[in-house]
Amino acid sequence: MISFERMEATLPRLVRPTVAYPPEIPGEGLVLRPWDMALVRQMGNWKQRGFPYHGFDLGHLADPARAANALASAHEPGPHRHFVAVEEGRAVGRVSINLQDVSGLYLWAVHVPPEEEGRGVCRRMLAALMTWLEDRYPETPFVLSSNTFNEHAHRAYRALGFEVIETRWHYDRELAERLWRVTPADRQPIAHHIRFQLGRWEVRTFVFGRVPGTPMSTGQRPR
Ligand SMILES: CC(C)(COP(=O)(O)OP(=O)(O)OC[C@H]1O[C@@H](n2cnc3c(N)ncnc32)[C@H](O)[C@@H]1OP(=O)(O)O)[C@@H](O)C(=O)NCCC(=O)NCCS
Repeated sequence: MISFERMEATLPRLVRPTVAYPPEIPGEGLVLRPWDMALVRQMGNWKQRGFPYHGFDLGHLADPARAANALASAHEPGPHRHFVAVEEGRAVGRVSINLQDVSGLYLWAVHVPPEEEGRGVCRRMLAALMTWLEDRYPETPFVLSSNTFNEHAHRAYRALGFEVIETRWHYDRELAERLWRVTPADRQPIAHHIRFQLGRWEVRTFVFGRVPGTPMSTGQRPR
């Protein structure tokens, strides 16, 4: 278990500078590219998962106006960088990074569509990004958060050297809004991970941390 003190000790005291987008980041069998319109169109055609993963679904990108808006915001100046994982021209995943989060290099919007799932895309995509970032931000820890029901994602994070550093209850607006509308049967698979507290739905969330340089496994898990 990584202690908070150890995580924090590795944090540089100065605000981190933000690196510009590279044309592409090489990875194992894929490359990471900044968003462009051709990739946005592909992502708009990805299959969708729906509840409780609806917050990741990108069907709205099939609308040209929403696609243009999303592309513009992906290139807005600021601490966030948004990448698409590409295999032979095909968009197979996406990930964003906040370069200036107080807790470290904060990965978010980790998403592989259902049709590309189960081939190690998530692991290879995150490994490529973290390897690239480790060169530019040595000694800076990686952080991400994940709802406690999301065991598939947790297997990927653990394989990449992440460990749970905190568990907390979190208000997730998109999940909370949908929880008002789904049936108790829909809610049942995640029932142990949610609570209704002070008039709103909350979800239990793990905060994961990874000390830079921790070995990463991108291959298949032994069966
Ligand atoms: C969670 C999510 C990102 C996982 O994507 P993924 O690409 O399937 O994940 P992985 O990289 O771990 O690969 C999955 C499996 O492929 C296996 N694999 C790894 N390398 C492989 C290879 N070269 N060939 C075949 N299989 C391989 C892994 O062993 C893993 O198996 P396991 O899940 O039984 O342990 C995806 O399901 C998703 O987007 N879900 C919805 C959004 C979400 O939950 N995001 C995370 C928020 S915190």
